[in-house]
Amino acid sequence: MDYSKKDILENLNTKIVGKTLMFFDEIDSTNDYLKENIDILNEGSVVVSKSQIKGRGRRGNSWENAKDESIFLSILLKPSKMVNSSLRISLVSALAVYKALSFTNLPINIKWPNDIIINNKKVGGILTEVVSYKREDDFFDALIIGIGINVNNMNFSPTILKTATSLKLESSEKNDFDIAKIIALICKNVENSYYTYLSDGFKFFLEDYKNICANMNKDVKLIFSDREEVGKIIDINKDGSILFKRNDGLVKSVFACDVSVRTKDGYL
Ligand code: BTN
Repeated sequence: MDYSKKDILENLNTKIVGKTLMFFDEIDSTNDYLKENIDILNEGSVVVSKSQIKGRGRRGNSWENAKDESIFLSILLKPSKMVNSSLRISLVSALAVYKALSFTNLPINIKWPNDIIINNKKVGGILTEVVSYKREDDFFDALIIGIGINVNNMNFSPTILKTATSLKLESSEKNDFDIAKIIALICKNVENSYYTYLSDGFKFFLEDYKNICANMNKDVKLIFSDREEVGKIIDINKDGSILFKRNDGLVKSVFACDVSVRTKDGYL
């Protein structure tokens, strides 16, 4: 389904996020665009592209392109406080995307840290990056929240066919979803959640996050760059990390890894 910058602006109901909106037919990566222009762009600047040819995912993965069918969106935030870690804001952003998609009534969950999933398949992902920028001879940290959502896709490349899905594929509705409307909803929800996070902290979101976290109390496999460990996620900590109980009984907090959930078809 085709959509334009005008369609997004007509739906947009925000104070800051998306007020500066850059819109492309094609781009390498919306995150990279913000990185390259970080010194001159204001907080809340948003980049949207209908097609993304060098999309990046978490942990060095690439992110599949699908012209006009998926959302490729990046939001620039310039908090005045020091950014110690991007983990909590990533979880808060995932929750904001979850809320933005709630109008679909689909059984959406979040897989820690920030995969948006439906029926154990990934419908969206978030790549949060901390990038330093210069203002008046001083350096500050900015956050780039890169959001990819499979909206009207009807198929995927063989490598992700088993693990990916789209809103349209999961819905009984056979009409396309309105991409411009969803982008505007994401901007609104990220704006609300970000300013609440700055004033009230991650604790405000923790219970909501736990309630929709699909891999809490499930048998999981944690995938690190050099090894894998099996066990259960028994809690989400106040700093956004997971409390993981390994099958041999060891309990520890983990900040970064990929998580596979055990299903009847094996770990997905
Ligand atoms: C993940 O691996 O789950 C995160 C995927 C994030 C993809 C989005 S699409 C828009 C933005 N630009 C990028 O290059 N990546 C993010």
